[in-house]
Amino acid sequence: MSEQRPRIVVTGRIPEPGLDLLRTVGDVWAWDHDDPIPTSVRDEHLAHADAVVTLLTDRVDDAFLEAAPQVRVVANVAVGYNNIDVSACTSRGVIVTNTPGVLTDATADLAMTLMLMVTRRLGEGERLIRSGAPWKWGMFMMLGSGIQGRQLGIIGMGGIGQALARRAKAFGMTIAYHNRSSVGADLEGELGATRMSLDEILETSHVVSLNCPYTDDTHHLINAAALSKMRADAVLVNTARGPIIDEAALVDALRSGEIAAAALDVFEQEPIVHPGLHDLDNVVLVPHLGSATIETRTAMATLAASNVVAVLSGQPPVTPVG
Ligand code: DGY
Repeated sequence: MSEQRPRIVVTGRIPEPGLDLLRTVGDVWAWDHDDPIPTSVRDEHLAHADAVVTLLTDRVDDAFLEAAPQVRVVANVAVGYNNIDVSACTSRGVIVTNTPGVLTDATADLAMTLMLMVTRRLGEGERLIRSGAPWKWGMFMMLGSGIQGRQLGIIGMGGIGQALARRAKAFGMTIAYHNRSSVGADLEGELGATRMSLDEILETSHVVSLNCPYTDDTHHLINAAALSKMRADAVLVNTARGPIIDEAALVDALRSGEIAAAALDVFEQEPIVHPGLHDLDNVVLVPHLGSATIETRTAMATLAASNVVAVLSGQPPVTPVG
């Protein structure tokens, strides 16, 4: 009698090379729609799953795990894994994996793009042209500010923070960072980067970029008190996770001129965006596009699939978390 192949559930659409790799080790069932998978459909398939590939929009909690009694690995197609209750997984012997590294450049590119968009007022300029309103070139029209010689304060100096620092240095910025540990004298020397306390970063940086994971410790790290420490000409950029910022406090700070501008790729109640942000011209808003290139999403799907292949083949996962 032939042995039953492992069953693998994929909770949303992922690039085909990821699915092809999964098919080499098991029978794959994938939810093939952009809308989220209904819980009843998900649970019906989780009931027999040996492995599951999840997206950052899935909540992997006790209810999820109870529906998946045989599951051995949860492979998240994202570097952030705040959507997964890792201790609930670990206590059930379920391995959790993520996709670090492969999205570093794409996310750093987006952070740099947002920084330039907001300091050069490109969103405003685009809206002006699209509105059909008359305009003409003027010496003082829509002046932004340059970033050369300005300080970029990076909160979270992991791979993405470091990749952003390299880009910003090439644009002539000076680099400061806040991180639990030092990145070491060699890298600090290479990047010309200075490690600072959170308050120092907030008080002295022209641009503050959030590149840290979202955890209990970073929930609302940028709240009203933090915003009040920032320079009046400062710009806040977030490509990490929305709830690191208290969005209501940010709206107040932008309205009152406590800080100059913000550029956001992620939102506190994603996909809902605080209505106060829509009305503000000094804000650039994009819909969580940090890793959204064909190459990067393909690499993420393939890495997640490699983690499943490893675990189902009795090997250690490539990129475990927790
Ligand atoms: C991640 O991988 O955590 C990113 O937010 C995906 O774009």
